[in-house]
Amino acid sequence: MKLKIDGIICEGREGETLMEVAKRHGIHIPSLCYRKGFEGLARCRLCLVEVKEGSRRRIVSSCVYPIKENIEVTVTTDEIQRMRKNIIMLLLLKAPNNSYINKLAEEYKVAAPERYMNPLDDENCILCGLCVKACEKMGTNAISFVNRGIYKKVSTPYDDASKDCIGCGACAEVCPTNAILVEDNEGKRKIWNREFNMVKCSLCGSYFATEEAYKLMQEKLNDNEEPICNECRKKIAADKLKESFANIY
Ligand code: SF4
Ligand code: FES
Repeated sequence: MKLKIDGIICEGREGETLMEVAKRHGIHIPSLCYRKGFEGLARCRLCLVEVKEGSRRRIVSSCVYPIKENIEVTVTTDEIQRMRKNIIMLLLLKAPNNSYINKLAEEYKVAAPERYMNPLDDENCILCGLCVKACEKMGTNAISFVNRGIYKKVSTPYDDASKDCIGCGACAEVCPTNAILVEDNEGKRKIWNREFNMVKCSLCGSYFATEEAYKLMQEKLNDNEEPICNECRKKIAADKLKESFANIY
């Protein structure tokens, strides 16, 4: 299927979203709650673009908009730029001291009105929902949105240490604003009000996963080998590759 994004002819497959096609063609669309491999969440609305279909124009969220043959997409118009600035202003109000949001505000030349600024506000979460999705994808469902209105937040049930959490840290890894605190210290990890014991890599000796996350990984991969961290796995794979090249040439 052919479509144009900012004048560039792009090829897309049925069912793909505008964001996916744009990314594949190296076209940048601003986003906060989009992550490759995840379905679009349409929460942040930064990814708004204008779509022209025949004589009709409309503004859509590119992370959830399925592509259509021959549509013409413009990533930034004056109207979209204004809308993005308003969105960033609201994000600034939500997380005024977050470095990522501040960088975004700087880039778009947005300043939060002073009357809203609260220097003691340490809120970093912008409620994008990526962490909840990541937890769902791990199959653990330990965190979710709780409360309503201005009290809405992501947490474990009743903010307690969740028995379902495996301490994998996938939530923190996908968070665009670094809002989730993971404390790793001397073989222990603290996250979501729970403490976990960590597993040591049998090769380099570094702690790399919680016992619970490691057990799940072993079950999924049907792997009963000694624990090996990602870095050492990569090194082993690179060494093997080098060895096989050396044998060929
Ligand atoms: S903690 Fe991070 S990933 Fe989760 S909703 Fe908040 S900003 Fe999004
Ligand atoms: S990236 Fe599309 S709404 Fe957030």
